[in-house]
Amino acid sequence: MPDVSWKIRKYKRGDEAGILALARNAFGKELLPEKNLTEFWNWEFRQNPIGDSKIWVADDHGKIVGHYAILPERFTVNGTEHILGLVVDVMTHSEYRYQGMFTRLGRAALEGAGNEGIPFCTGFPMEGSTASIVLPGHFKVGWFVGFTIPVLIRPINFGAIIQSFLKNPKLSKIGRLITHLYDRVQSIRARLSSNEIDFKSATSFSKEITEFWNEVSQDYGIIGVRDRRYLDYRFSSVPGRAYHILIAMRKSRIVGYMVLREMRRMELDFGLIVDVLTQRNDGYTRRVLFKKAVEYFKQRSVDLVGCMIQSKEYQRDLKALGFLTSPEKYYFIVHLNTGQFDRKTVSAKMRWFLTWADLDTI
Ligand SMILES: CC(C)(COP(=O)(O)OP(=O)(O)OC[C@H]1O[C@@H](n2cnc3c(N)ncnc32)[C@H](O)[C@@H]1OP(=O)(O)O)[C@@H](O)C(=O)NCCC(=O)NCCS
Repeated sequence: MPDVSWKIRKYKRGDEAGILALARNAFGKELLPEKNLTEFWNWEFRQNPIGDSKIWVADDHGKIVGHYAILPERFTVNGTEHILGLVVDVMTHSEYRYQGMFTRLGRAALEGAGNEGIPFCTGFPMEGSTASIVLPGHFKVGWFVGFTIPVLIRPINFGAIIQSFLKNPKLSKIGRLITHLYDRVQSIRARLSSNEIDFKSATSFSKEITEFWNEVSQDYGIIGVRDRRYLDYRFSSVPGRAYHILIAMRKSRIVGYMVLREMRRMELDFGLIVDVLTQRNDGYTRRVLFKKAVEYFKQRSVDLVGCMIQSKEYQRDLKALGFLTSPEKYYFIVHLNTGQFDRKTVSAKMRWFLTWADLDTI
């Protein structure tokens, strides 16, 4: 162990400003704008209805130079509810890298989580951005890859997409032509009457959403609890983020919901399907919801629509509506903190239902 000037310890009140300053240093231009807001920090780490976050920091004589946080999450695992942990915001100050800080913080935080009865933690590093940087350190402290999750995309404006990658304005004409052709083909393929479903836009969830959750939760093997309390916390008034909630009703009963968000990245306007839920065998409502998302985002003039989802049925319905598997993917990684679950159980891809709602970055 090299001689170091820092010590690791648990978070204490008043560390927030130091943590935010560290985030600006560690992520630089990549820092999500909301992650720079004290209000967002309070929302993410203090106001979570599930409970306190487990935050560990590295402290160099009063300056916060490292950070590792575990957010508690409620998951139903094969019929029984458990508190799991989502690891977020692992960061080491640029002047303190390669001193083993990340791994030391990880060991301490994960051992602490195990002692508090959190059976396992999850993480979602993304291929091509965070994965290559964090995976070596995660593996050293016992994390493993359960499986990968694809991002499906529905191109809307081929001209903008081509231009963003090839930076050639002449190609935008070809892009317009491809957009036109693709839309024609998809509208023939995805002929779907949505007459049976009424949509309600909402800014928060009503108590009926918990009844809907109670009905559908048994359909899924391993799924984050999506009752009213959680959904309202996760989507209703998040500092620095605007979500659009759509409730699908059939004969005055909730049969599904979807949460949408717009984001600008790589000079492109993305429409994101952040979360969606229907009964597992209700492909009709799902396809109507996805169709509605594409229409909504077209009106908002986004360049492409994206959805990260772990569920074969949902992926199949997205593809039926012209979504393609993109080169982007997330690694779903797991750390077993106690002996309660084994690697095989938590790596059973087909048992899991996961969306961007289960991450903190979208
Ligand atoms: C990722 C990060 C936390 C690593 O911090 P660190 O304290 O330097 O990591 P450690 O010294 O504990 O290194 C752990 C292992 O990871 C490897 N590693 C560290 N940084 C790496 C990098 N940039 N690329 C590839 N491997 C890396 C190390 O080689 C080390 O293994 P080794 O000792 O066997 O060589 C740090 O680079 C960082 O803050 N990055 C910016 C923020 C970020 O992207 N966070 C992840 C998303 S939440």
